[in-house]
Amino acid sequence: MADALRAHDPAGIESVVSLEPARTAGDPALLERLAANLVSNAIRHNVYGGRIELATYTRSERAILVVANTGPLVPNGDLERLFQPFERFSSTPRSSGDGVGLGLAIVEAIATAHEARLAARARPGGGLEIRVSFCALRGVPAGDAL
Ligand SMILES: Nc1ncnc2c1ncn2[C@@H]1O[C@H](COP(=O)(O)OP(=O)(O)OP(=O)(O)O)[C@@H](O)[C@H]1O
Ligand SMILES: [Mg+2]
Repeated sequence: MADALRAHDPAGIESVVSLEPARTAGDPALLERLAANLVSNAIRHNVYGGRIELATYTRSERAILVVANTGPLVPNGDLERLFQPFERFSSTPRSSGDGVGLGLAIVEAIATAHEARLAARARPGGGLEIRVSFCALRGVPAGDAL
């Protein structure tokens, strides 16, 4: 997660990061892609002076990743559509000109392949909160977070 944040340019965006160990079994490259797509969205579809919140933690045998951001208001009725390939919501100042609308479709495919639960919520003040919950890997020492 920290790598995903470093790899993107959060200029003008405040980031709040809380990384506790959250280990799961799976394809590391795909899980990195999932995290990177969510972080890049949280930065790109934000507003100037906005904020992103990243968290990983383990609770009740689930390894959980939460990516939340401020941004334009997303109508709840549009949430499902955003996960369809090539679907994009209206452009924001930060998002104009880039993205083809595949990032969330890829996130959903990777989550499904890992039997993870994926939940998206439009924040009342604008922006999204996306939560991905994996089966936690047990019996290994706590190490790097997802
Ligand atoms: N974190 C977010 N906050 C607000 N809106 C978002 C967020 N993530 C996605 N969206 C909206 O959902 C649409 C689809 O996202 P998706 O990641 O699939 O495509 P993209 O970011 O536009 O392009 P790509 O990821 O293919 O480069 C975005 O265009 C944007 O309107
Ligand atoms: Mg995207």
